[in-house]
Amino acid sequence: MKSAEIREKFLSFFKAKGHTVVRSSPLVPANDPTLMLTNAGMVQFKDVFLGLDKRPYTRATSVQRCVRAGGKHNDLENVGYTARHHTFFEMLGNFSFGDYFKRDAIHFAWDLLTTVYKLPPEKLWATVYQEDDEAYDIWANEIGLPKERIVRIGDNKGARYASDNFWQMADTGPCGPCSEIFYDHGPEIAGGPPGSPDEDGDRYIEIWNLVFMQFNRDEQGNMTPLPSPCVDTGMGLERLAAVLQHVHSNYEIDLFQNLIRAAARETGTADLTNNSLKVIADHIRASTFMIVDGLIPGSDGHGYVLRRIIRRALRHGYKLGQTRPFFYKLVEDLVKEMGAAYPELAESAGYVQRILRHEEERFGETLDNGMKILESALADGTKVLNGETAFTLYDTYGFPLDLTADICRERGITVDEQGFDVAMEKQKATARASGKFKMAAMLEYNGEKTRFVGYERLEETGTVVALYQDGAPVEKIVEGQSGVVVLDVTPFYAESGGQVGDVGALLGQHMRFDVEDTQKIQADVAGHHGKVVAGTIAVGDKVDARVNMELRAQTMRNHSVTHLMHKALRQVLGQHVAQRGSLVDPDKTRFDFSHNAPVTDDEIRQVEEIVNREIVANNPTQAQQMSFDDAIAHGATALFGEKYGDVVRVLDIGFSCELCGGTHVSRTGDIGFFKIVSEGGVAAGIRRIEAVTGLAAMYWVQEMARKVGEAAVALKTQPDELVNRIVQLQDQMKGLDRELSTLKARFASSQGNDLAAKAVDVKGVKVLASLIEGADVPGLRNAMDKLKDRLKTAAIVLASVKDGKVSLIAGITSDMTAKIRAGELVNHVARQVGGKGGGRPDMAQAGGSDPSALPEALKSVKNWVEERLG
Ligand code: ALA
Repeated sequence: MKSAEIREKFLSFFKAKGHTVVRSSPLVPANDPTLMLTNAGMVQFKDVFLGLDKRPYTRATSVQRCVRAGGKHNDLENVGYTARHHTFFEMLGNFSFGDYFKRDAIHFAWDLLTTVYKLPPEKLWATVYQEDDEAYDIWANEIGLPKERIVRIGDNKGARYASDNFWQMADTGPCGPCSEIFYDHGPEIAGGPPGSPDEDGDRYIEIWNLVFMQFNRDEQGNMTPLPSPCVDTGMGLERLAAVLQHVHSNYEIDLFQNLIRAAARETGTADLTNNSLKVIADHIRASTFMIVDGLIPGSDGHGYVLRRIIRRALRHGYKLGQTRPFFYKLVEDLVKEMGAAYPELAESAGYVQRILRHEEERFGETLDNGMKILESALADGTKVLNGETAFTLYDTYGFPLDLTADICRERGITVDEQGFDVAMEKQKATARASGKFKMAAMLEYNGEKTRFVGYERLEETGTVVALYQDGAPVEKIVEGQSGVVVLDVTPFYAESGGQVGDVGALLGQHMRFDVEDTQKIQADVAGHHGKVVAGTIAVGDKVDARVNMELRAQTMRNHSVTHLMHKALRQVLGQHVAQRGSLVDPDKTRFDFSHNAPVTDDEIRQVEEIVNREIVANNPTQAQQMSFDDAIAHGATALFGEKYGDVVRVLDIGFSCELCGGTHVSRTGDIGFFKIVSEGGVAAGIRRIEAVTGLAAMYWVQEMARKVGEAAVALKTQPDELVNRIVQLQDQMKGLDRELSTLKARFASSQGNDLAAKAVDVKGVKVLASLIEGADVPGLRNAMDKLKDRLKTAAIVLASVKDGKVSLIAGITSDMTAKIRAGELVNHVARQVGGKGGGRPDMAQAGGSDPSALPEALKSVKNWVEERLG
């Protein structure tokens, strides 16, 4: 049976059983911070399970595209090693939202498998959660599955509810016990039944998971019952197809055959059983669908998951001897295979190819070099790859850690992951300490260092010595294209020491290259990043390099003032203040430093005054080259953790003296004016200040003055009187609040009096359950007291609704608390409106989130009391 038919039969079976067919949702879950990628069919129904969302149906069925390559469910490492794991797969599922539960779920699954898909019953096994007698009995007594093929699985993963038979989407969210159906691929394959020591073998394969959703798990691990029990099932299409197509491995099914052949074609591989082909076939599915669903490869979050999958595929291509871009070509084959089921594939194919190709070119440049590094690290026959090398591969050559681990695993070598973490931490600490040295790495350059003349002038004629496009060296760049230019000499400052790179233009005869950023491509080689807006730029051309003076001047003011501020902070806060990171650009300076308390307003004013006094003094600044030791003797502040060469640049600005390679004003007066605009904490013991200078500082002050002026007008007073006026208004408001709540209480209690008449007699107890419109909680309490006084022997529930939230209060007169407890009564009602609560035996309170269920819930009080009184 072809995959297309399997999908179709699944959906029509459940459609005939009253299920609504729902389309697959995208791979990126909408508005769910707890989950990175859609990993199951239930994801799009999460809020329905939780009772937060309602659908026009209570039964649904879907074929959902899923990725399990990160987070709670991650199969990336297994792909290529087992017959049944994928990063991307399709999940067939049926769902009940408070409709049917265990019995129907099990019957449906059994019928579909044995009558529609015609699986031999004797090949099927079932597992149930240890305590789930109900599911066990259904399997044993109703389905008639022999007891030796029903396995109970307990908390086999070390904690309460940590079990193969307790399913949860993520660390929080809906979850519940489950019953899994296994298929026995026969004795010729190694492996034991579920729950046995050999269960990891490939003989018994789980094909369908029936989850009986009963709880919502919160961040503390508390399990709250769902508003009503639900069903969530999931069956991997690929696993079922393997069974129905009489093959053992998922990779032998129809969906994979052509993709594997295509991967063989593109990598020139003759042996179709090569595992690398499976990896590539799996990964082209995942990468393509992820890109179709809006992701692009990146260095964190979803983007990094995607990048890891792509790079893993490329590495397997490399292993098969393919060093040219090839992966993107498989998109067409995938469209042929799955385009009918997913029309969005064909629409986006061209776009997906461009993204993949770009990523291939990028990684292609470093893959080979990285592999050489790795080979030489492993050459001595070691069994553990050291963490430093793994980190270098990650940091410089773009090898995700799992990629390195994958290569090592093939050779029986493990990676020192702890060492990797240590190296990573070390680098982060250095980067934090200095805020330094971002390189547009990965460009191959063997020429001379760039001569930097930007301390003295902002214009210089230079010669183009190298050009790059998309990471590769080129001879020329034509109009409209972007790239990187290296000159023999430049006035452009390349980003370092927290100061951003210069912008400006490179001009030639009939040629203009707009420089959008300048970044080091090696320690002393500047890369001008930008775009040719007219003509063509070619290696060997002479160009006139002009820095944008206005922006550079602003940046210099902000950089110089950073030194003054650093010194002033040490004077005001103490000598423990040390720079932990900085960013200086034309708009501001952002300065992180060690200090373990918020900087007070008064301290900020002191720092501002000290710095502005230095500015007004208008002293010349001075830069000198000297040896590191001389610099320290001269009194210069060196940054902790920073690397310095033998000869350093010492900068005297006003009363400050620091080692610094940045560009600075020539007199402190050039800074104009300094204003701190924000102060806050960024990490334990680290504060961050943002400040502005020159005209930006003036505009900031003007803007503040304007806002104060507007506020004064709005409050009908003068700016000087603003604070008094606000205090006065706050007092008035407090008075009004008090009056309002007295009135509300009175109103509620008068409603309460009328309500007394509505109480009904149940075996001598007056029972009353009512909504009081417009009452707040004190109002409800007030009315409760009155009603208890009047009704004498009573069980009362009062409710109010505000902003979609239900407030509940239950009261039992003291003569009845032995028989009925207010806490139980209030919870009986609260549960029905999506909440819970508690309190004393005579008075208890609760909240709820579902006002629509309130009328029914209140109605149920009478019966509940009746039952209690027995
Ligand atoms: N949500 C369940 C699973 O993914 C069905 O296994």
